[in-house]
Amino acid sequence: MCGIIGYCGPLDAQKVLLDGLTQLEYRGYDSAGIALFDEKSRIHFIKKTGKVAALRQVCEETPILSHCGIGHTRWATHGGVTGENAHPHIVGRVTMIHNGIIENYQYLTEKYRLGERLHSQTDTEVAAAALNEIYDGEPFEAIRELLSQLEGSYAFCIMFEDRPGEIYAVRNVSPLVAAHMGSGAMIASDLTALLPYSKKYFVVPEEQIVKLTAYSVSLYTLDGKKEAPELLEASWNTDAAMKNGFEHFMLKEIHEQPEVLKKTLVPRLNKGLPDFSDEKLPDSLLKEVSSIRIIACGTAMHAGIVARSLIEPRLRIPVTVSIASEFRYEEPLIDEKTLTIVISQSGETIDTLAALRLAKERHSPVISIVNVKGSTIARESDYVIYTHGGPEIAVASTKAYTVQIAALYLLFCRMALVRRVYSEDHARRFTESLLACASAMETMIRQKDTINELVTHIVNCPDAFFIGRGMDYAFSLEGALKLKEISYIHAEAYAAGELKHGTIALITDHVPVIAIATQKPILAKTVSNIREIRARGAYVVLLMTEDETLEESLADVFVRIPKLDDKFTVFPIAVVLQLIAYYASVQKGLDVDQPRNLAKSVTVE
Ligand code: F6R
Repeated sequence: MCGIIGYCGPLDAQKVLLDGLTQLEYRGYDSAGIALFDEKSRIHFIKKTGKVAALRQVCEETPILSHCGIGHTRWATHGGVTGENAHPHIVGRVTMIHNGIIENYQYLTEKYRLGERLHSQTDTEVAAAALNEIYDGEPFEAIRELLSQLEGSYAFCIMFEDRPGEIYAVRNVSPLVAAHMGSGAMIASDLTALLPYSKKYFVVPEEQIVKLTAYSVSLYTLDGKKEAPELLEASWNTDAAMKNGFEHFMLKEIHEQPEVLKKTLVPRLNKGLPDFSDEKLPDSLLKEVSSIRIIACGTAMHAGIVARSLIEPRLRIPVTVSIASEFRYEEPLIDEKTLTIVISQSGETIDTLAALRLAKERHSPVISIVNVKGSTIARESDYVIYTHGGPEIAVASTKAYTVQIAALYLLFCRMALVRRVYSEDHARRFTESLLACASAMETMIRQKDTINELVTHIVNCPDAFFIGRGMDYAFSLEGALKLKEISYIHAEAYAAGELKHGTIALITDHVPVIAIATQKPILAKTVSNIREIRARGAYVVLLMTEDETLEESLADVFVRIPKLDDKFTVFPIAVVLQLIAYYASVQKGLDVDQPRNLAKSVTVE
């Protein structure tokens, strides 16, 4: 959700904040704002609806010489997209930016009789106003008192009018990372904004107060004790968070998949066998669990559905996939014999985090598959398998999905080995085939122009359907999500055999259907379903392996992926589905990397 940045130091603070907000914009992009101490220690603020570019333009017209300031890019949760609702919020001596949701804002409004005095509809202004009521010149005490009254999630950066050159920050759930480098002190919602300045950083612990000045970043417990931060080193470099000549981050990230697949797999292979000793993942756990619960949201959940199709029939243990936001309310049957696997690119998705906490409460051991080092989900899990995808900046997830699947496949292979479902030889053949998927993905990336062409037949249609059976159905779910989120074409995924139980009523002349038929044991059945929709005039794009021959009349366009065992077709198919969505968005002239209403990391329930 919202992006937060704060900077104190010798550099031009306005520039540092605007550059940082550009890096963080994928977290939210409906409005942006900054507040700065000028040379005379007065606070100036500028806020603008729209993208960071609009804010930058105004700032460049009226530059402010400053060495300390805070900035925010918003994804509206509380109150519409207006200049008043944009952050920072300034109330009396307090200037505040916030990511999260203050649940008891009404209580605070009444307690401090703020009603008449508020200018926005935001919960943040309520928090700023409450803090202003409490503040008597002692920042630590005031923040501590405010926190004792707050309910909800928050990451705040705060400047006090009478404390020039200082920024205070505190968080509960919502993420914050901080760094001190030669060129000052910095704090941000995520690492991408810090990377141009520092590879060393620390995750701000919950309920601890950070104080930034030009010379230091200090961490204090709520009772005022100074703590040494636990420094981490980023394995990403700045290039990883840049477009590097690609027109969009999404296209760059699609291209990165073969490489990051290898980065995720290779360090965990020991003589060709999966090895999670670096993760300290005990074989006894993998051997003894009697069921698996996979929990995630969106694309990460779709990765879980693919893993379920792999694991359950082979290990013969029940695997359930839950949407994280539903998990808590479905009275889940989990205990210490259930292995919970949570999947999250950002490691901050609040629904997934809440589900993880519930699983732990019920004594279920938790493994998380996470991309962002040090993120909350990673830290709260019993075991973490980091995917080495590097920063994913495009809002639509691509490489995170395929590396999540790769990590889950490797975990499955280790389980199959320790449960004696696979011999060592079998496991070695499995990991070899898994690694070889990198080149199958490359093959499909090389076909991007063909995919761009086929999309011209889809791009002006209001609806599209994705169908498949078994694992192909699992892939379809992701194909449909990708297409709708960035091209705004209404897309639905159906199990191919289910269409005739209702949905086939929607199939008329030229309705695009992307049919996936890579699962050999059920190919004939899928083909029958394709014939049924062909007979109703659908425009069929058929994705299949190159070794199969099917009648030419079955589809308008054939996209052939390399011959692979059924289990592994997900990797090249994912590339094709991502490219279909990508080119549909490009051909419609839409904002590919920042589609409307979305944000990269969903830190509100
Ligand atoms: C879709 C997409 C989302 C995320 C979901 C979970 O392209 O990116 O559906 O997959 O919001 O996010 P993480 O993986 O960060 O928990």
